[in-house]
Amino acid sequence: MSTAIIDLLQKRKASRAIESKGLSDVIIDKLMNAAQLSASCYNNQPWRFLFLTEESALEKGRKALAAGNSWAKKAPLLIAGFSKPDLDCQIPDERNYYLFDLGMATQLILLQATELNLVARPMAGFSPKVIKKEFNIPPNYEVYVMIAVGYEGKIEELDERLQTLSRAPRERNPLSMSFFFNKFD
Ligand SMILES: Cc1cc2nc3c(=O)[nH]c(=O)nc-3n(C[C@H](O)[C@H](O)[C@H](O)COP(=O)(O)O)c2cc1C
Repeated sequence: MSTAIIDLLQKRKASRAIESKGLSDVIIDKLMNAAQLSASCYNNQPWRFLFLTEESALEKGRKALAAGNSWAKKAPLLIAGFSKPDLDCQIPDERNYYLFDLGMATQLILLQATELNLVARPMAGFSPKVIKKEFNIPPNYEVYVMIAVGYEGKIEELDERLQTLSRAPRERNPLSMSFFFNKFD
């Protein structure tokens, strides 16, 4: 049985081939609104997203990218996602939910981008230090993800290694590795 969500999730792919063509304000607005509708602990909405759209800001953002993420330099939109513990539930047994909820909202950006025929690739390969310094983000925030967003580009424009990776089929573990019924074994 196909469902709209499964179809969208199958369409989503974290492509590295991104066109430099800019995104309209309407698109940016949809990405923000999708994230803002995320569930969060106690509705705390602890996510903070810095959208880099202007060339001068993008240039600062690019400085933070790891060498392996140079492909993202072409993206017309880089988003830095950050938060801090006291913005969200802190359960006394040491469960802090700020990063969980930042991830929930991040996923919605990816899905809204997909529905708009954009590619959006999340990245851990960047320097939070550089982002914090370039954009004066206070030390108590944790910059946890960057997302490169744009229209899908041509795979042929990537270097050979990334072309090979990009052509590989998406792989997932068998469901039995991650899902359990009635007991954990
Ligand atoms: C937290 C996180 C960090 C990631 N970091 C990087 C990264 O630094 N560079 C990169 O090219 N892809 C990165 N990815 C993308 C994953 O490699 C990609 O989502 C995964 O291979 C599955 O591919 P798919 O999203 O197309 O299904 C990251 C994804 C997540 C969720």
